[in-house]
Amino acid sequence: MKGIVLAGGTGSRLFPSTRGVSKHLFPVYDKPMFYYPVSVLMQAGVREILIISTPETLPLIRRVLGDGNQLGVEFSYAAQAEPRGIAEAFLIGRSHIEGGRSALVLGDNIFHGESMFSLLDRAASASAGCVLFGCEVAEPQRYAVAGFGDDGRLDSLVEKPAEPVSDYAVAGLYFYDERVVEIAEQVVPSGRGELEVTDVNRAYMKLDDVQVVTMGKEIKWLDLGTEDSLMEGAGYVSSVLRDSGSRVACLEEIALRMGFIGPEQCHRLGEAMGASPYGEYVMSVAQGRGTGEKPALDALVWQGAAV
Ligand code: G1P
Repeated sequence: MKGIVLAGGTGSRLFPSTRGVSKHLFPVYDKPMFYYPVSVLMQAGVREILIISTPETLPLIRRVLGDGNQLGVEFSYAAQAEPRGIAEAFLIGRSHIEGGRSALVLGDNIFHGESMFSLLDRAASASAGCVLFGCEVAEPQRYAVAGFGDDGRLDSLVEKPAEPVSDYAVAGLYFYDERVVEIAEQVVPSGRGELEVTDVNRAYMKLDDVQVVTMGKEIKWLDLGTEDSLMEGAGYVSSVLRDSGSRVACLEEIALRMGFIGPEQCHRLGEAMGASPYGEYVMSVAQGRGTGEKPALDALVWQGAAV
């Protein structure tokens, strides 16, 4: 399974903040926004991750993440020259994902919660051609919306509908089989001039090959595309730390818990950032004084590693 993080776009809904710098570099409480989607792929056991971003932003993300060796993963990078839509990620990343299953996560999405590991496990091992994540939201018109028939089967997917048929938004995390590249090649630009991921998902729906994993209240899902959601994201991450002592999307901790790196390497990574509370946390995790976050243990069990 290969992964793609798409951190492109102009961020026009956050002007003027995004005029000079991509929102994906904004801190969300204690770390840059792009850590959150990367953490989701790592928790899904994906170790070969392509980061797609604008030509200006790509070197800045690379400066932080490097080649991934320090985390026991492989990061590669590709530019999306113009904001031509989410589905272009499959064309830009063709050589990365061709011939196998892949997962795409949007660079401004946060997913967090104890059951996330088992949901990711289900998605990664699903037999369906495409796995989507649905979540009941207050403003479905901001997202792609899934409609279900009386038999509970997915029967419609509409991007940002004026009149949503349900409150089920499709989150920015998608798993596909090897057909996704050829399906994306058939997609034509929408009214807003973008290659819509929803059109890719509709193609799978027409093939009757979609599974929708529904995320309940125990999962926190946020799309950090608006000023209010940015504030909510930072508030959420800070409240998790305050209430449980855990840091959300700490890549070094996830790499350790997943068995991608050992405690010595984790400690070195923490030491290099030791002047910050985040760095101290990473060192304490390496020394086994971590929070013992339950999801992390689940991951170890799921990975078949010795606990
Ligand atoms: C994008 C997708 C949309 C999806 C959403 C999830 O919207 O186009 O289908 O529901 O991400 O975050 P955007 O945030 O680019 O407006």
